[in-house]
Amino acid sequence: MERLLILNASPRAPRSHSQIYARMLADAWKGSALCQEVRPACHSAIRQAIGEADALVLVFPLYADSLPVPLLRLFKELEACPPCRRPAVSVVVNCGFLEPFQNDIAVEMVRLFCRRNGYPFAAALEIASGEAILDTPFRFLAGRALRRLARAIRRGEHRVFRVTMPLPKRVFLRASTAYWTAYGRRFGVSPRQMASMEIEPGPPSP
Ligand SMILES: Cc1cc2nc3c(=O)[nH]c(=O)nc-3n(C[C@H](O)[C@H](O)[C@H](O)COP(=O)(O)O)c2cc1C
Repeated sequence: MERLLILNASPRAPRSHSQIYARMLADAWKGSALCQEVRPACHSAIRQAIGEADALVLVFPLYADSLPVPLLRLFKELEACPPCRRPAVSVVVNCGFLEPFQNDIAVEMVRLFCRRNGYPFAAALEIASGEAILDTPFRFLAGRALRRLARAIRRGEHRVFRVTMPLPKRVFLRASTAYWTAYGRRFGVSPRQMASMEIEPGPPSP
């Protein structure tokens, strides 16, 4: 198996953690690996690239326990207009919380898409604490998991790998709360505002 197509379906693709994971996977791949961002303007180029690939890896963040919109849009497009060949699909999903199982449902959603559309499902890597782990001494755990995933894809093994920071939940919560509180302060947003459902001020009432 040679040609690997890695699709980054993060809505903030160029500045995303998915981008970093995609590059790390490409480095771990022994063969040619092409990384491509998922954007509507690229759908037809992506369809062609999928048809030419030996294996496809979808790299994306977990959004609200589910798949991000760029991936959903691509799935719709591929359902309506399938590629000429359907390579085996693998997944790298990363989420903010500490528990890898948070990603289980998203992986099941991709499996369902594959089953309904005739793509073999290959392997998955569920990364938890995905936005933090890369800046810590535990980064090597993510690198090792990506190398294991690459090996499983090459060997055609159906495996699910999971990785997270080996920290007690309470330590993780304390550190992440401190991080996000300081982050909000930089932009004049209080912890209370961050905990509310309001994303932007609504329209002025009449
Ligand atoms: C709108 C939104 C929804 C999210 N939903 C979840 C979630 O349900 N569970 C979770 O663990 N992380 C969630 N996250 C955190 C992201 O999965 C996490 O920040 C990830 O590292 C982003 O990856 P990216 O940089 O590749 O886009 C969410 C982030 C955003 C912005």
